[in-house]
Amino acid sequence: MLADRLKTLAPSSTLAVQAKAKELRARGVDVISFGAGEPDFDTPQRIKDAAVDAMRRGQTKYTEVGGVLELRAAVCAKLKRDNGLDYEPADILVSVGAKHTLFNLVMALINPGDEVLVPSPYWVSYPEQVRMLGGVPVEVPTSETTGFDLDPAALAAAVTPRTKLVVLNSPNNPTGAVFTTAALEAVARLVVERQLWVVSDECYEALTFEGRHVSIASFGPEIKARTIVVNTCSKAYAMTGWRIGYAAGPRTLIRAMTDAQSQVTSNPSSIAQWAAVEALTGAQDEVAKMAGEFDRRRRLVIAGLNALPGIRCVMPRGAFYAFPNVSGLFGRTWRRAEGPTVLASSLDVTAFLLEAARVAVVPGRDFGSDAHVRLSYATSDALISEGLARMAAALATLQ
Ligand SMILES: Cc1ncc(COP(=O)(O)O)c(C=O)c1O
Repeated sequence: MLADRLKTLAPSSTLAVQAKAKELRARGVDVISFGAGEPDFDTPQRIKDAAVDAMRRGQTKYTEVGGVLELRAAVCAKLKRDNGLDYEPADILVSVGAKHTLFNLVMALINPGDEVLVPSPYWVSYPEQVRMLGGVPVEVPTSETTGFDLDPAALAAAVTPRTKLVVLNSPNNPTGAVFTTAALEAVARLVVERQLWVVSDECYEALTFEGRHVSIASFGPEIKARTIVVNTCSKAYAMTGWRIGYAAGPRTLIRAMTDAQSQVTSNPSSIAQWAAVEALTGAQDEVAKMAGEFDRRRRLVIAGLNALPGIRCVMPRGAFYAFPNVSGLFGRTWRRAEGPTVLASSLDVTAFLLEAARVAVVPGRDFGSDAHVRLSYATSDALISEGLARMAAALATLQ
């Protein structure tokens, strides 16, 4: 019954964990979740007020497919202010979240058989979107010893005549890496030399705690002409539910992405667009406040994880995820009701933590590494401390 493209779509073990956590909660078990990919803060009031004003003004109809001119101009001003990049509104597309932006890009750029280089560990949607449209994702490993920095030599070695696009994500989900300028410059040279395209997913830009966020597009006109910068209101402004993401890039490509969007969703919500105008152009102080809070929690989580036997975690430099290596637990025996289980994968460790510690994490296998699990620290200090204490108690029962 189903189309061939759906046959390769991997069912998400992330969702399996969430379903299991939900089932446990329904049975009255209190589970602490480190699974969420969204800030635990509320959307700032000034942004909500702007949405209400927009409704009152009657901004409740279809808009231009790529977003109202005021929002595309606000995106240009943001890219100038924060990234030193010059774009015009015609170079901007606003979509229903950055995930939709990225899908529009793959639609507009990737032919069946085209290869897309995806540094690994990666955010799960990159390879799935490419695969859904007949492209071939090619995983290019990064190393824990460099804090998961980009590896330009490995990327260069992975280029073939079919390579079309390189996916960059800094700060990174799930590793928290902030790519170094030197690595980004080397990748920029590679992209220009081999006439590739690069998508720079900068969704966690506002959550850069160490190092400096640099957009690869800022290295000069040649690389800028081959780069699609992607960003979102979701993370910086705690607006995950509003669904506003955007792209800036070469006009022909932006136009093609806009045409694709015109046949699928038309414009993103008019009301959310006006809220996004306020988010991007209003006072930015709550962004720094939120980032400061995440930075503090980051230290709490990483120190706590590194104190656990069998677990080690590099210090993430951005985003709100910890990506601890749990392979030190492999080979240990978990005495569960159904009979002893020897831990051998990120799925096993995830199941163990859920059942024995009542803590939900996401298996690294979904992100390209079976030696890791991902924890989001977009949750309160109290829950972080309690979650870590539960993990410590459960680990002490392993044989
Ligand atoms: C790396 C990365 N890119 C893009 C997104 C998409 O964000 P949104 O569609 O909410 O704008 C996410 C969300 O989790 C993400 O982690």
